[in-house]
Amino acid sequence: MIIKSIESLKDVLNVNWSDNSLSSYPWFWLRDHSESKEDLHPDTKQRQIDSFSKPLNNTVSKIWLDEDSQNMFIKWDDQSESRLSFELLLSTAEPNSPQSIALNSSNFWNMPSEINIFPEISYDEIMCSGGIKTWLTHIKTVGFVLVNGVPVNPDATKELMEKLAYIRNSIFGGFSVWDNKLENPDDTAFTSLAIEPHTDGTYVYDAPGLQTLHCIKKDSIGGENQLIDGLAIAEKMRNEYPDAFNILCNVNIPGRYIKPNTYLEAHRPLFRVDSNGKVIQVSFNNHDRAPFRLKNEQMSLFYKAYKIFHNLANDKTRQFEFMLEPGKVLTFDNWRLLHARSSLSGYRQLCGGYHNREDFESRLRSV
Ligand SMILES: [Fe+2]
Repeated sequence: MIIKSIESLKDVLNVNWSDNSLSSYPWFWLRDHSESKEDLHPDTKQRQIDSFSKPLNNTVSKIWLDEDSQNMFIKWDDQSESRLSFELLLSTAEPNSPQSIALNSSNFWNMPSEINIFPEISYDEIMCSGGIKTWLTHIKTVGFVLVNGVPVNPDATKELMEKLAYIRNSIFGGFSVWDNKLENPDDTAFTSLAIEPHTDGTYVYDAPGLQTLHCIKKDSIGGENQLIDGLAIAEKMRNEYPDAFNILCNVNIPGRYIKPNTYLEAHRPLFRVDSNGKVIQVSFNNHDRAPFRLKNEQMSLFYKAYKIFHNLANDKTRQFEFMLEPGKVLTFDNWRLLHARSSLSGYRQLCGGYHNREDFESRLRSV
């Protein structure tokens, strides 16, 4: 899209785009968003302009477009000059609240058969031939991805994870190796018990963005994993149970994690919603829920809403079930999917860890 014409008005600059749409930018916004090297550091991309000493009104003396460099220039009465690229003007043509990477709700799945393209990729494609974008795009689209043909050892798994970004540290350490036979497990994940659908980290304010798991030793029966699209449940509840949906968007639920010398607790609604009304994070772990009490009537409404969510998450038809096998690495979006595990007998050893949500988004923007 190109700029057809501009029109200087008292309070705003009107830009007419080639598709006949019109954008109105306030003068001060244009000045504040100047990309000239004096106003925006060319290397760090950090704002240098003193946003607070400039007049808010129109003090333009001259404005012109340079089609060759695809920039707009503005000369102000105080002789300073602003430069704004057509690219920036176009990307901000519509007022919008800041957003994380846009997940397309048409990709949300209510049952595994709604997954259009099964999200898998080979280890060699990622490590040798630039398949990182495909790897990450599967996570963005479906919420999870399986990498096949991974060497069955912790070092290769860690190296794969570090292709995405540095591994996050947590109460469980960074990259970890564990099995189901720990003598004093501090989480059900380190046992053979079944685990109901949940998200990790309801007891930390910044829950892990991605989780990666690799089964590297397997002499067991059972232990299938289930994945459930929590954002699909959110949209179903928004449409079919609007009152319950609103309760789960607004009630702060405390999560906690307790062991000697540690007492983690954090609070957020089951559905975290951005200023556009879009659900951006699902948080649910009934086992880790800390005591809290609302007024009696509200508490009762909360329990009803919470149960609707629980029943939907536990509906087998919504669950993608599979077995972790040596050589197959699972990574999933912990802000979107719930995960669960059937009980198992025998022995298995796993390795893996977490990535921060912003590091996933960063890699996705930059590959
Ligand atoms: Fe978990």
